Amino acid sequence: MRSGGKAALFLEPRNPQEAASSLAVLDKEKIPVLYLGGGSNVLAPDSDFDGAVISTACLKTSARQGEIWNLWAGVSLPGIVHDAADAGLTGMEGFVGIPGSIGGAARMNSGGRFGEIWDRIESIEVADPDGSRRTLRPVDLNPSYRNGNLGDSLCLSVTLRLEKGNRKEIQEKTAQVLAQKAAAQPLTERSAGCIFKNPPSQSAGKLVELSGCKGWNEGDAYVSEKHGNFIVNRGKARSADVLRLIERVRRTVLEKQKVELELEIQLWGK
Ligand code: EPU
Repeated sequence: MRSGGKAALFLEPRNPQEAASSLAVLDKEKIPVLYLGGGSNVLAPDSDFDGAVISTACLKTSARQGEIWNLWAGVSLPGIVHDAADAGLTGMEGFVGIPGSIGGAARMNSGGRFGEIWDRIESIEVADPDGSRRTLRPVDLNPSYRNGNLGDSLCLSVTLRLEKGNRKEIQEKTAQVLAQKAAAQPLTERSAGCIFKNPPSQSAGKLVELSGCKGWNEGDAYVSEKHGNFIVNRGKARSADVLRLIERVRRTVLEKQKVELELEIQLWGK
């Protein structure tokens, strides 16, 4: 969303070992920690944070053996979608148009109509707050809708299992999915993706539209006219503007549709 305050410490470990040992030091010193992947699903408060943000931005290494692909947490999800198509590997087409890093995708169980990332994950490696490292499989975490259930563990790397496919068909499907998303979502504007989770068998965007909230604004934060579940920053919106808008929309949807919307984005400091 490009809003929010400053952190006292900002760490960019260069490999998983550095990330794990940084966590151990911060834990020992009792310094509060927040994890940052690509930042595309996060709303940070406008006030400064008296703690440390660990960013996975420099964890960029990846290694592929056939259909099995090991990716450090900071590798970009759009890059993976592109490289998979190039290598003739199918399974990632539905993730086109989703920004962020593979570590963040694992934490949030990113996805949509075409499946969720945990459908493709063989295992992940995490570091616990005390710095210890563990490998976890889907059965250990039981991921659910938009929740990889990682708790307070930091994702260090992800191993994906894809399938061999026809390169041209994969590229065509990727282009098709992207065209559908670009028609429905404000992909080129600054946003945090969908703000609310879809209530069971309903669409949050449709509920927002039916409640007449599209186009509403607080400062430079607007409810997108294209998709009701997106709030876009059209200038210098502050996180407080976004939060006020979220509350107005949530209250209105509750009054008019009798549905209580739950946040999908990560609110730091809550
Ligand atoms: N709709 C409206 N008005 C709107 C928005 C949507 O009437 O303003 C209707 C659409 O016409 C459609 C239905 O609601 O009939 C569903 O909309 P859409 O297909 O756009 O998908 P969605 O349920 O709103 C979900 C995910 C998206 C993901 C898409 C496509 C959630 C909260 N959202 O959106 O994920 O990209 O499916 O797979 O699960 C995200 O999580 O950040 C995100 C963007």
